[in-house]
Amino acid sequence: MKILDQPPAPRSALSYAGLIEKIEIMRSSLRWATRLERADIEKLLRQSGALRDEVMQLSHKERFVAAATGEGQSVSVLAAASAPGARRLALRQRSFVFEGTFGDNPRLLDALEIAEKAAPTDLPVLIDGESGTGKELMAKVIHANGARADKPYVSVNCGAIPENLIESELFGHRKGAFTGAAADRRGKFESAHRGTIFLDEIGELPLQGQVKLLRVLQSHEIQRVGADDVISVDARIVAATNRNLRQLIAQGSFREDLFYRLSVIHVSLPPLRERRDEIPLLCAYFSDEAAEALKRAPMKMTPRLRDFLLGYTYPGNIRELRNLIYRLSCLAGEVADLAHLPEDIRPGMRERELNVPARRAADAVAPPASLADARRVASDEAERAFLERGLREVGGTVTELARRCEMNRSHLQMLLKKHGLHSRDFRPRKA
Ligand SMILES: Nc1ncnc2c1ncn2[C@@H]1O[C@H](COP(=O)(O)OP(=O)(O)OP(=O)(O)O)[C@@H](O)[C@H]1O
Ligand SMILES: [Mg+2]
Repeated sequence: MKILDQPPAPRSALSYAGLIEKIEIMRSSLRWATRLERADIEKLLRQSGALRDEVMQLSHKERFVAAATGEGQSVSVLAAASAPGARRLALRQRSFVFEGTFGDNPRLLDALEIAEKAAPTDLPVLIDGESGTGKELMAKVIHANGARADKPYVSVNCGAIPENLIESELFGHRKGAFTGAAADRRGKFESAHRGTIFLDEIGELPLQGQVKLLRVLQSHEIQRVGADDVISVDARIVAATNRNLRQLIAQGSFREDLFYRLSVIHVSLPPLRERRDEIPLLCAYFSDEAAEALKRAPMKMTPRLRDFLLGYTYPGNIRELRNLIYRLSCLAGEVADLAHLPEDIRPGMRERELNVPARRAADAVAPPASLADARRVASDEAERAFLERGLREVGGTVTELARRCEMNRSHLQMLLKKHGLHSRDFRPRKA
């Protein structure tokens, strides 16, 4: 299969039309590809990297022109350090690769900014956070933003491998090293050579494996099980856990020296209930994603379902929210309601009849974790009410609402999407 070459872009002649043409060339290469060789993949990666740089250049230029003509006032306000979206925008301007990580919560941005600084180094990173908070996604972000991005990314779940196989899984084995070792086999560390190895659920690694891992961190060498010779490996280590490793150290089931080696850079991901301001945006994002996957229009939801989703505590964090939205998109017809929720979290009939906001039996709705969170939730509600009232007043004409609010139209569109509001729902019905 031949990957078409891209026409070279003279730096001064960048245009959206030119970029679209290049994207179309890549799309047609992919559309007709029956299989891709590694060399083709490398070529596509290079082409898409160049495209990204050009998009960045173009967007810098646009911002500059907008600011110079005064039209960009809202843009420069947005870029002020304290404005919502400013830190995310700054990351984007520095060509940060988000890998689909959504959200504008200060604690998530803290984590992304640490990842940005850690990515170009080879220092080990330890990510912790409850289940479903995005640890694996963060490991991919670190890999994608470093110099090893086009090298292997190998993920190992230390909790899913039987204790007697963990060493051979990580370091490989020689034929005959143990019953069942029918041939020489390389381990995950060798597969991750020059790339990144993601050691998930590191707290589950048995003590013997921890000793071996410590040795790799110190010497950058491994030994296959049953072999005498040592092999040099250059794998960047990112580890993750949802356990409290300090507690495991105190119990004697995790080595303190390994903990310090692994956590040179430490990233903590907050649970979703401590960044509730993300929920509307994530709902909109996952609902679009689900619509595309299920090949149907994005679902709408009743106000009481929306209240439930905004108030629920999400013990399974972002994964639970994502799964819920997929489930609702799949089971609901045009409009999803409480009845489409899984039974174990669905609020009781009585509550529904009384129209009490939905809550899980004992503890579903958590109060905001801090004053700052409470402010964000309140400001989110006020923003939504403002937009709904505005849309009603202008009969669903977004351009008119943008004019009245002196707001950039695309920014307004983004806000409507964040709140799951559709302008067409506010248009007058034809008789
Ligand atoms: N900030 C985010 N934006 C968009 N999607 C996210 C975000 N964080 C997590 N996700 C999505 O949520 C799901 C769970 O994320 P991930 O697997 O990284 O969590 P985890 O912390 O590794 O969970 P576990 O501890 O259970 O392994 C994935 O589908 C991931 O893409
Ligand atoms: Mg995980």
